[in-house]
Amino acid sequence: MLGRDLVGALDRVGHDVTGLAHRDLDVTDEAAVRAALRQHRPDMVVNCAAWTRVDDAETHEGEALAVNRHGAGHVAAACAASGARLVQISSDYVFGGDTRRPYTEADDARPRTAYGRSKLAGEQAVLRQLPGAGYVVRTAWLYGAHGPNFVRTIIRLERERSAIDVVDDQLGQPTWTVDLAHGIIALERSRAAPGVYHASSSGLVTWFGLAREIFGLLGADPARVRPITTAEYPSPAPRPACSVLGHDAWAAAHIEPLPDWQVALRCAFPELVAAQAAAPAGRPA
Ligand SMILES: NC(=O)c1ccc[n+]([C@@H]2O[C@H](COP(=O)([O-])OP(=O)(O)OC[C@H]3O[C@@H](n4cnc5c(N)ncnc54)[C@H](OP(=O)(O)O)[C@@H]3O)[C@@H](O)[C@H]2O)c1
Repeated sequence: MLGRDLVGALDRVGHDVTGLAHRDLDVTDEAAVRAALRQHRPDMVVNCAAWTRVDDAETHEGEALAVNRHGAGHVAAACAASGARLVQISSDYVFGGDTRRPYTEADDARPRTAYGRSKLAGEQAVLRQLPGAGYVVRTAWLYGAHGPNFVRTIIRLERERSAIDVVDDQLGQPTWTVDLAHGIIALERSRAAPGVYHASSSGLVTWFGLAREIFGLLGADPARVRPITTAEYPSPAPRPACSVLGHDAWAAAHIEPLPDWQVALRCAFPELVAAQAAAPAGRPA
């Protein structure tokens, strides 16, 4: 989802960009990763590849680690060998989500899920191997045209159901993949120091608030979205109650903040509705 929008954004601003899908390169294959860097000779790599099935990771932690820790480590090692800079995409799930204030880049990461542990291990592998050229960009609540995500799911459910129940006690920052792509380009251009950066939308909302906003944009009655608690919607991987990311490092590097989540959603919405309408039946977002 992020990778496709990033390739498009880089291409549009004139970069010579190569996008490698999973079928083109398996990041768990160290030799293949080294060969890919030797072949393409990039100045910069953005590793968007990840095991992203948060709930499945609870029972498949080894597989999540293979991609999110070892895969990231292989990409970092290949970058170190070739002299390329690396942007490793990471997640708000490296934090426990149990504070009521935004997490800073310097806060201790204490993940509560297998997915979060695997993403944190990937960050550490990158920062260890590329102290002078490794960037970790943590983001949150991504949505975009090219993949299943919450926004597309709600667009679909609005058509299928008279009412829906959505969790109203988890706070986050819905972030459009196109905005994050532009943020990554701005980070690259800023020549900011290597290290950890948080890149997510401005403003805060719960999943319930986001679903109501989507209903409003669809011209549907937002009252058809009803609030429930996390306890009423249990999942294998515990979800953070407040995984809000502060943007201190981003601001200190003088990079334009990502837009407010409501502004971003309005910009993204026509593309998301079109993508959802074009989705093949049987593969719901
Ligand atoms: N989605 C979110 O809400 C969110 C929030 C915070 C952070 N992030 C992070 O943002 C990044 C991008 O996420 P996304 O939402 O764009 O996820 P996505 O759509 O699931 O993309 C992940 C991609 O990685 C590929 N992949 C999986 N295993 C691989 C391997 N061994 N080698 C190479 N490619 C592999 C997947 O290919 P296949 O599908 O073909 O396996 C998929 O194309 C990830 O680092 C994720 O952890 C996402």
